[in-house]
Amino acid sequence: MGLIERAIGGAAKEAKAANDKIAILGDGSPFELNYALLRAKGVFTPTAREEAQAYELRAIKRRLLRRIGLLQRAGRDRRQLQGAGRNRNLVLCTSTRPGEGKSFAAVNLAVSMALEEGIPVILIDGDPARPRIRSYFDLPAGKGLTDIIKDASPTLAGAAHRATGVPITVIGEGSRTPNATDLFGSLEAKRFFSSLSAHLPEGLVIIDAPPMLATTETIALARHADEVVFVVEADSTPQPAIAAALDELLELNPNVSLLLNRCLVPAGGSHYAAYEYYEKRAADDQDLPVVERERG
Ligand SMILES: Nc1ncnc2c1ncn2[C@@H]1O[C@H](COP(=O)(O)OP(=O)(O)OP(=O)(O)O)[C@@H](O)[C@H]1O
Ligand SMILES: [Mg+2]
Repeated sequence: MGLIERAIGGAAKEAKAANDKIAILGDGSPFELNYALLRAKGVFTPTAREEAQAYELRAIKRRLLRRIGLLQRAGRDRRQLQGAGRNRNLVLCTSTRPGEGKSFAAVNLAVSMALEEGIPVILIDGDPARPRIRSYFDLPAGKGLTDIIKDASPTLAGAAHRATGVPITVIGEGSRTPNATDLFGSLEAKRFFSSLSAHLPEGLVIIDAPPMLATTETIALARHADEVVFVVEADSTPQPAIAAALDELLELNPNVSLLLNRCLVPAGGSHYAAYEYYEKRAADDQDLPVVERERG
């Protein structure tokens, strides 16, 4: 390497990082949120602001945002917390078995964060075997997560769909791949998720993952996540299965929160009235700003 090259090495690295960011942003193709479709699927919409579902989602969101540090950032400490370490805004949604409500929870969280809190969200389908996210937004199959990771110079162009007038971007699952676990565990995946996270310091990246006991893909994805939302189906998910999945998960990532789905609904309550949210960490840990938690 020549002297000049060596001298400009640092600057070149920074320029490359900035360039990577631009490439990552790309041009998301615009789409309109289909509120009727979301409502039909039981997802939060602005007309449901006063329903029990909206209240429960608010409680879930507040806890998640507090843990991530966005609640503090949005308040008085915003400036102080900026640049105080890496973002902790990558949230993975999973559960033990198929059909327990992971995708439903991921979409509800994403839509409600974006619509009600004005928090920018990138929602990603990380379940190429049973993709569901596009169906909530009426989006066509096409380039998505697996293709972006495989791409030598990753860009969101052609893979990201940006809702018009609402800060929500959806990335579908992408093409089927025989080795999704290897792909999700790759260095390229790590780079991609880190740059997404860095792009959205005031927002969230939410990944809808496969069920833990059915595949090893979730574990590969969980390595990139800052927070894991673990959906438990009330009165249905067997406890040993939960314990086994949590054991594996907690070894990788201690920031796991349990979300109880589909409890018994009180008469006249909304069908979603069951969402509850439990913290795994000590209560006094939750209220610390993210910087202090990281130091601690
Ligand atoms: N709280 C809820 N209220 C109403 N419908 C729900 C609720 N939770 C899940 N559902 C519905 O149950 C079905 C299964 O949910 P979902 O697709 O989210 O499960 P999943 O865990 O993502 O499944 P998979 O493992 O196949 O990815 C969907 O039709 C979803 O709309
Ligand atoms: Mg799903």
